[in-house]
Amino acid sequence: MSSEQYFPGLEGVIAGETAVSSIAGDLEYRGYSVTELADSSSFVETAYLLLHGELPTAEQLADFKAILIESAEIDPAIYEFLKKIPLHVGAMDVLRTGISMLAHFDPQLDDESPSANIAKATRLLAQIPMLIAARHRFRQGLELVPPDPEGSFAGNLLQMINGREPSQSEEDAMDVSLILYAEHEFNASTFTARVVTSTQSDLYSAIVAAVGALKGPLHGGANERVLEVLEEVGTPENAEPWVRHALATRRRIMGFGHRVYKDGDPRAVILRDYCRSLALEQGDTKFELIADTLETVVRQEKGLPPNLDWPSARLYRYLGLEVDLYTPLFVASRVAGWSAHVIEQAGNNRLIRPVSRYIGHATRTYVPLEERED
Ligand SMILES: CC(C)(COP(=O)(O)OP(=O)(O)OC[C@H]1O[C@@H](n2cnc3c(N)ncnc32)[C@H](O)[C@@H]1OP(=O)(O)O)[C@@H](O)C(=O)NCCC(=O)NCCS
Repeated sequence: MSSEQYFPGLEGVIAGETAVSSIAGDLEYRGYSVTELADSSSFVETAYLLLHGELPTAEQLADFKAILIESAEIDPAIYEFLKKIPLHVGAMDVLRTGISMLAHFDPQLDDESPSANIAKATRLLAQIPMLIAARHRFRQGLELVPPDPEGSFAGNLLQMINGREPSQSEEDAMDVSLILYAEHEFNASTFTARVVTSTQSDLYSAIVAAVGALKGPLHGGANERVLEVLEEVGTPENAEPWVRHALATRRRIMGFGHRVYKDGDPRAVILRDYCRSLALEQGDTKFELIADTLETVVRQEKGLPPNLDWPSARLYRYLGLEVDLYTPLFVASRVAGWSAHVIEQAGNNRLIRPVSRYIGHATRTYVPLEERED
């Protein structure tokens, strides 16, 4: 490639090949439309599809669920450490450390064979919800709630955090949000995971690095900032003046815009319906009204549609979840997609090492310290 071919932020650059998902037309995981998966699948089945490449048979799905339940237990030393982390430390930082600690207790840490990587990814799927819920409950001075072996992944996640059984509609909404967050091609955190894997490092290192990339507000961290926006707006009446002022002062409104989807994020459309019905069920549509006005004005004025983080922030609020859990919940789901990419990268690896365009000083001669002027 000539040094003249430079695309800031790698925009539009094909940086690798993948069979995990495609966003060329409709978003598809392994060839299945995400709309169809959201309508008919479950998060656990979708995670199996991403990791194994095919939808499971009934027996494979039952086995996968059983492994998830069996693997959920984590070493007590990790819980002890979680209790010692200062209370002000954010949930995403704690989760990054927690995943790194899980690596120390994994017997297959340095086995990078596809079967070992699938086994490690399955353990992470089971254990990340435990880390998220444990830290949350310890921080609140509450007892841990164990997962229900008969419960669904989404139902257990909500129950372990909130300490109460979710309603069917809450469980379904959570499950769909996990399906929609599970995978998204060469986004920044997935690319990070692939870069780490390309050095022949291990799956845990790749996932920990991906968590770091996801935390940023331009990526996964946006879902937490979206709720701050809705709270700042406060009332439906304030929505239009607020957003016009925000745009006039060139403020970046979290939850809008996307590097790839310029006409709209199909995931946002799917999740919006779940937001609407939960809000109606709870008899409080204030945030829905605020969201409608912001969507209309941002689209009119900037041509920007909302992305998945826009409805997911409201949804998680309706599910009774604290704001700093929103991005960790994204991790609980996206670990499926990240792991699928790690396995794919390791299976057909070439070190990812691009080049830069140098814009620094022209060549100059070293000046000994005693000859340097002040
Ligand atoms: C996701 C994002 C980083 C993609 O950005 P990008 O492809 O790099 O696009 P740019 O940042 O170059 O923005 C292009 C233009 O749209 C504007 N824009 C993009 N997102 C915007 C937003 N959320 N609010 C207001 N303006 C926005 C930029 O200011 C810029 O306008 P200009 O040309 O007048 O300067 C960006 O849309 C963003 O920051 N969104 C908010 C964070 C977010 O929701 N992230 C989750 C993504 S799933």
